[in-house]
Amino acid sequence: MNDLSPERDNRIANLKGLGCSRKRVEDVRFTQGKGNYVDDIKMAGMLHGDFVRSPYAHARVVSINTDAAMALDGVIAVLTAKDLEPLGLHWMPTLAGDKQMVLADGKVLFQGQEVAYVVARDRYVAADAVELVEVEYEELPVLVDPFMALESDTVLREDLAGQTSGAHGERRHPNHIFLWEEGDKAATEAVLAEAEVVAEEMIYYHRTHPCPLETCGCVASMDKVNGKLTLYGTFQAPHVVRTVASLLSGIEEHNIRVVSPDIGGGFGNKVGVYPGYVCSIVASIVTGKPVKWVEDRMENLMATAFARDYWMKGRISATKEGKITGLHCHVTADHGAFDACADPTKFPAGFFHICTGSYDIPVAYVGVDGVYTNKAPGGVAYRCSFRVTEAAYFIERMIERLAQELNMDSAELRRINFIRKDQFPYHSALGWEYDSGDYHTAWDKALAAVGYDTLRAEQAERVEAFRRGETRKLMGIGLSFFTEIVGAGPVKNCDILGMGMFDSCEIRIHPTGSAIARLGTISQGQGHATTFAQILASEIGIPADSITIEEGDTDTAPYGLGTYGSRSTPVAGAATALAGRKIRAKAQMIAAYLLEVHDNDVEFDVDRFVIKGAPERFKTMKEIAYAAYNQAIPGLEPGLEAVSYYDPPNMTYPFGAYICMMDVDVDTGETEVRQVYALDDCGTRINPMVIEGQVHGGLTEAFAIVMGQEIAYDEMGNCKTGTLMDFFLPTAVETPHYTTDFTETPSPHHPIGAKGVGESPNVGGVPMFSNAVHDAFRAFGLKQSHMPHDHWRIWRIAEGLGLHG
Ligand code: CDP
Repeated sequence: MNDLSPERDNRIANLKGLGCSRKRVEDVRFTQGKGNYVDDIKMAGMLHGDFVRSPYAHARVVSINTDAAMALDGVIAVLTAKDLEPLGLHWMPTLAGDKQMVLADGKVLFQGQEVAYVVARDRYVAADAVELVEVEYEELPVLVDPFMALESDTVLREDLAGQTSGAHGERRHPNHIFLWEEGDKAATEAVLAEAEVVAEEMIYYHRTHPCPLETCGCVASMDKVNGKLTLYGTFQAPHVVRTVASLLSGIEEHNIRVVSPDIGGGFGNKVGVYPGYVCSIVASIVTGKPVKWVEDRMENLMATAFARDYWMKGRISATKEGKITGLHCHVTADHGAFDACADPTKFPAGFFHICTGSYDIPVAYVGVDGVYTNKAPGGVAYRCSFRVTEAAYFIERMIERLAQELNMDSAELRRINFIRKDQFPYHSALGWEYDSGDYHTAWDKALAAVGYDTLRAEQAERVEAFRRGETRKLMGIGLSFFTEIVGAGPVKNCDILGMGMFDSCEIRIHPTGSAIARLGTISQGQGHATTFAQILASEIGIPADSITIEEGDTDTAPYGLGTYGSRSTPVAGAATALAGRKIRAKAQMIAAYLLEVHDNDVEFDVDRFVIKGAPERFKTMKEIAYAAYNQAIPGLEPGLEAVSYYDPPNMTYPFGAYICMMDVDVDTGETEVRQVYALDDCGTRINPMVIEGQVHGGLTEAFAIVMGQEIAYDEMGNCKTGTLMDFFLPTAVETPHYTTDFTETPSPHHPIGAKGVGESPNVGGVPMFSNAVHDAFRAFGLKQSHMPHDHWRIWRIAEGLGLHG
């Protein structure tokens, strides 16, 4: 169609389809306090559960006395492992092929572990009863250091005693979980041995926590009359929860309804299955009453899925001119007491082997040792697809270190080594096929936007002024170029507990030309109700405002694997586009019939089918929808519906160029981020405003992680950061100002060319902020300092470098 008329432009604008910064439809209820979160659910006769948790990180449970708690008025039951054992529910499978205690079975393995579950009339009585449960512990030696755990005679997981192999192969020590390897070790070693220049570093990505505003929780309601279990909860993957609940409880899947209502942020924290879900289901089955369990903040920080805790030992080699020749990485991964990581089965270290980053590295090797310690289980990604933030942090720190060894500008080192545009699809040394990219264009745009050369000159002047004693502030320029990998994933190699990671969309067009679409994903704030309607609007010519998007109810939504790892757009978004195309194909037949021409003689134009060469003769989608229900069309069933289950052929590989500028006060360790520039390329952009919001949020989380967030333990395994007094959540006061930008390199295999974006700013933001801190001290010889870069640690860097005089 070559029609460029204003009338046609109006029709396009009216759709609010792809590329439109449509306002978020869900915000009407959120901004008015009308969201419906788990804790808003109130049911007749509802009981409340609360946990007795271990104060010790490692101890034998000698006895549990529940008498005093049971005697308290309003207490209905106190469950212990002994009560769950006959049901086979005192342990549960984890998403990583391990098993985890639901309630302490003989011993506890981390502080905050669930020991007993109190069910009471209300939350306050439950909390009082928790205090009355008497547990006798016998303390055991504590292991909080993964390196020491691999040397120690103390066996943490006695249940695995004698097992020399686990879900991911051989275990070489009782506290060892797996060794997972990728790449050519011998060839990499050979290249490193011969290299002209090698940079070597231990990069630690500390333990942190997603800390969503809403904690985890559920309401389980067993209807004993019709045998149906309904489970409302903060689930990022409601269908998977239904399947797991069925397998564990023996209740047939059609008799389980899982509903994820509004969710106040997930970031990976709400992917896993927690003891609270299991205990609430059991309690509801036993009592016949609905049972609610909602964590408090301390429980969420101390006991639910942490993120990171990767010790990454790297070696990177290059020629004297700066051409990278090889990369070697060994990770010691602290998984805590149970391996409850949320990764596809085949990838116990997630997609960490994207750690060659955006660079054309001929040979590489990565090995990851998973280790048990006395810390909370459940490594999740925290707004990053399966350990990609760790990988990006690793390579972007190694690049900076290599630049130091080469005495070279690190922006130039990146440019020399970027995968070139003509190399896509690019096969990395560690086995990935990058779908598309144009890194040089993005990098040049970013450097020009911030005035990179001027910044470097200003920085050099500042160093001189510092040396002359004229200032006590240094200036760091934080560079980061990242390649993400999102959209898990091809069913052939990605699954969660055996369920292939496809996703789905089902569309019904109503006779009057509006529609409802249901998806297998679930928004936790990402704005799916807004953006998925936009995909459909462009595909089927019905305005986004006339399309309802529904997610999260397993009784109505098609089976899907949920929302995490920025997979919604690459997978469910593709399913949505393809379901839309099925609608359009049928609509074409209906239009041709109504216009009395052959199917091939009509073509789609914005919101209608027109006769080719005679666009004044057309049928709008509204007319076609009506005809689908009220005309007997030969050879066609009535109605206008479609469903699509989409198995992506590959991941998508968004990328970005991030640069920030930071002033660092050498005497106080205080920092001030002066400027952040973030260029993202997520392929076709569905909603630029939503993308910008995602980028702002992700950058803020990255800022938090780098500058202060930490789940820290003392040597006794006490969690030192279990409250928001200690765990850093930036407010508007600390949060920097952001400038966003973009390039647009569509994914060649995604139906609309879109890649994910939600996690990119975290993946790219962490190395950017950390590199800025390191860069501020580069002139004084700093090589590596572990995150978080809080004031105290920055002061210590300066002290260590002798900058305090
Ligand atoms: O899986 P999740 O929703 O967390 O991440 P995502 O697929 O990256 O999408 C986050 C939000 O950004 C959604 O509302 C997407 O539709 C939107 N988005 C977009 O507008 N354009 C893109 N190319 C990618 C995502």
